[in-house]
Amino acid sequence: MTVLRSDATPTYEQRLRTLSEASVHQHFDAFLDIDWDAPENTVDPEDPRWVLPSHDVMGRTEWYRSLPLEHQVRIGLYHQARITKVGLQFEQILISGLMNYAFSRPNGSAEFRYATHEATEECHHTQMFQEFVNRTGVDARGGSRFFRAMAPVLPLAARWVPFGFFFGVLAGEEPIDHVQKSVLRAGDDMHPLLRRIMQIHVAEEARHIGFAHQYLQHNAERLSRVERGVISVAVPLLMKWLCNEILVPSRSVRRELAIPDDVAAEVYWDSPESQKFLRDLFGDVRMLADETGMRRNRVARWLWRRMDIDGRPSRFRGEPASAAA
Ligand SMILES: [Fe+2]
Ligand SMILES: [Fe+2]
Repeated sequence: MTVLRSDATPTYEQRLRTLSEASVHQHFDAFLDIDWDAPENTVDPEDPRWVLPSHDVMGRTEWYRSLPLEHQVRIGLYHQARITKVGLQFEQILISGLMNYAFSRPNGSAEFRYATHEATEECHHTQMFQEFVNRTGVDARGGSRFFRAMAPVLPLAARWVPFGFFFGVLAGEEPIDHVQKSVLRAGDDMHPLLRRIMQIHVAEEARHIGFAHQYLQHNAERLSRVERGVISVAVPLLMKWLCNEILVPSRSVRRELAIPDDVAAEVYWDSPESQKFLRDLFGDVRMLADETGMRRNRVARWLWRRMDIDGRPSRFRGEPASAAA
């Protein structure tokens, strides 16, 4: 195990220990820390607070704004349930992957300890998210059929190509975290249950995202040239695929909610506002991809542009999007 360096910069192992200790001292339980049965936390499917806020890519469209209130509410609640369901499916894949990864760690590994703290927290998140979905009454299926079919296979990447896996983790965690943080920052009149869930999630995700960043920065220099080349091409594709799984409603959902195809096409991702929103999601990932040498080759750089997720990298992790855009 690496010991303290002479310049007192924390080593990788020390950083992971700090994250692990933070998990011991600050963590949440889905059923102790949320009062599901409090009257104010009741999920009423007709509650106008489910209307999508004006900073949401769908919520800001002319089409949505001109719908009757009950249709806006229905879409809004469905939207929350659907995103929550995909989020928890991601977390299930992540938990499986973390177990595969931890299995490969030797005795005394700081990574083993942190990976198991993270898996514990993600288990609580899946319980919290599933309970929310159940209470909405929406039978949300989550990701696409392809995504759900791939769910048993994706966690194997954590054992075989952990570097690629942890970039994939960010592809799931960064968009959800970014959206939740901007919703909390906007401070709209939101349902208290959803606010509580987002607060808990954002608090713990900060550590998970921190670990993925630490892991990737630490291990980037250990990649072979071939690994670096293959993973750097895969990263922008993974980012766009997984982001679409989370944010874009499937055709069957659009039919169910009577969202016209031209509106969906504009929102995902033809309009200039949507394109900015999409680019903003990945400011931190671009920074990390630069730091880990993932955007050096021409094909990778072209793919970042082709996937419409290129732009200025954040200057520091969590830099607000308006500043990073
Ligand atoms: Fe989570
Ligand atoms: Fe997480």
